[in-house]
Amino acid sequence: MIPMVNLQAQYAEIQDEIVGGFTETLNNCAFILGPNVQAFEKEAAAYLGVKHAIGCASGTDALHLALLAEGIGAGDEVITSAFTFIATAEAIKYVGATPVFVDIDPGTFNITPENIEKAITAKTKAVMPVHLFGQPVDLPAVKAICDKHGLKLIEDCAQSFGATVYNKQTGSFGNAAGFSFFPSKNLGCFGDGGLVTTDSDETAAKIKQYRNHGSDVRYYHDVVGYNSRLDELQAVVLRAKLKRIDQYNAARRHAAHLYSELMADLPLTTPYEDGIGVHVYHQYTLLSDRRDEVMKALQDQQIGCAVYYPVPLHQQNVFKEECAGVSLPVTESVAARCFSLPICSNLSDDTVKQIVGVIRGVFQA
Ligand SMILES: Cc1ncc(COP(=O)(O)O)c(C=O)c1O
Repeated sequence: MIPMVNLQAQYAEIQDEIVGGFTETLNNCAFILGPNVQAFEKEAAAYLGVKHAIGCASGTDALHLALLAEGIGAGDEVITSAFTFIATAEAIKYVGATPVFVDIDPGTFNITPENIEKAITAKTKAVMPVHLFGQPVDLPAVKAICDKHGLKLIEDCAQSFGATVYNKQTGSFGNAAGFSFFPSKNLGCFGDGGLVTTDSDETAAKIKQYRNHGSDVRYYHDVVGYNSRLDELQAVVLRAKLKRIDQYNAARRHAAHLYSELMADLPLTTPYEDGIGVHVYHQYTLLSDRRDEVMKALQDQQIGCAVYYPVPLHQQNVFKEECAGVSLPVTESVAARCFSLPICSNLSDDTVKQIVGVIRGVFQA
């Protein structure tokens, strides 16, 4: 059995450090916004090259709090991708705004500057690009459009921790950005967790309030806030993994490049890198007209594989009505043909070769 992500193997390498940190926390009982959360926020801000990094309860909350703090609300339109996890659009709906879905590039699977610009109306207040599968969006180009039209840029970095564009981290370009620490993410904890980044002191202050019941001083409340704090035990895990994130991402890139090299002669579309940044391969996602056959062959051999995402957001039941008439041909075509293979920081060359062997068998049959 080959899983999509081998979290056990990764844990085995850092078990002592994590158990040591847990024991310390259990002894000092500083469970809420304790020393590890504070230290992790400083370490993450330094790594990402931003002034502020604020922990919260999930990636979904990170995007929600970022939109709130940037003043996006009822009546506003936010331009985003339909080829993403539902949380991207949920966060936009939570603040009362409307997601406006635009089409993606067939190579990067990310929304394009041209499509963003075409969708701008008098109601547009923000653009929320998603660095899908760890592939960085062309942020300087998107930011130039946002600046030209007076729009906020809020990055969905749930899948892109450590990805860079022109040597600058994703999550450091926009007015604010949201990261997810869901266990399978490039930087993942042992439950739910998230992070908002920003260079704005004002936005950071608002997010700190919103995540903690609208309060800066205990039992004094300025706004209606939320209970959305990063857990102290999760911060222990994240500090141990943050130290190793470059190694983890390099291992993912190595496995991805090996897959692509070994499948170069097969009638499949392997992931594209546009050269403007570093793709961190949260997922290794291919396109094939014979997706079902390939996936069946993998499943028969107990090899993990999955479709991210089979139904684009404009075609989901929840958005069908408000998106009636929306047509996104590239998104729809990619969703019908994409599938992802196992990828993580502990995937050996032999395992990659074994997986490719099974796929090759489908095309040689
Ligand atoms: C693109 C994208 N945005 C947002 C999220 C939400 O993150 P979380 O699951 O931590 O709430 C996820 C992850 O699941 C995601 O993949």
